[in-house]
Amino acid sequence: VIASLRPPRLAGRRLLVSAGPTFEDIDPVRFLGNRSSGKMGFAVADAARRMGAEVTLVAGPVSLPTPPGVTRVDVRRAAQMREAVLSALPGQDAYVGAAAVADYAPAETLPQKLKKSGESLTLTLVRTPDILADVAAHPARPRLVVGFAAETSDLETYARDKLHRKGLDLIAANDVSRPGQGFEGDDNALSVFWRDGRRDLALGPKTRIATDLLLIIAERLEAME
Ligand code: CTP
Ligand code: CA
Repeated sequence: VIASLRPPRLAGRRLLVSAGPTFEDIDPVRFLGNRSSGKMGFAVADAARRMGAEVTLVAGPVSLPTPPGVTRVDVRRAAQMREAVLSALPGQDAYVGAAAVADYAPAETLPQKLKKSGESLTLTLVRTPDILADVAAHPARPRLVVGFAAETSDLETYARDKLHRKGLDLIAANDVSRPGQGFEGDDNALSVFWRDGRRDLALGPKTRIATDLLLIIAERLEAME
């Protein structure tokens, strides 16, 4: 068979991707955020579309263009991201949780700007919902639930712990302590783990890493049929 006549690898699949940071508001002018650029998740959404999938992208606050042909839903807080992801869940074949969701958010968002007073300030933070774990436990769970793990040490141990604890099918881990593969750059390297497997995707452009990750996702989906 001529390669170009084969259907694209993700034709007929529906993929839901979350990307970017979340911003948790303290008051009308201040928030808690993180350094996620959203580039990895946007690259996954773009590559999945190119590979023939129907793609929905739930995006935190990022300054990135919407990949062509991708349906985008913009959100800000973790709680909003959870709502958007869970609403889009029915009918998806896979969920790829590439967002850097805040683990804690201010217990309350003040309606007025907080005025300074005193020499120190204590903010009370409360845990946010774990969107990925909620997707994996949901009645409308996609057949394949894929998480990311950003670690600074013991990559495989922490990644496999998240794989089991959250009930995932795949986890893509990156060592954010290594130069050139952090949150903000255009390059990344990933180690992908599943129950009885591992594959390392060497340092390269996030666009290439995204395609390689999606080939593993396509393979896992095919293996389930
Ligand atoms: N995640 C999520 N909701 C959260 C926190 C994390 O959906 N409230 C998802 C991320 O999108 C990612 C995965 O969980 O796919 C792992 O995120 P990470 O921050 O590495 O793990 P945590 O479980 O938050 O653990 P910790 O930050 O303590 O390492
Ligand atoms: Ca976290």
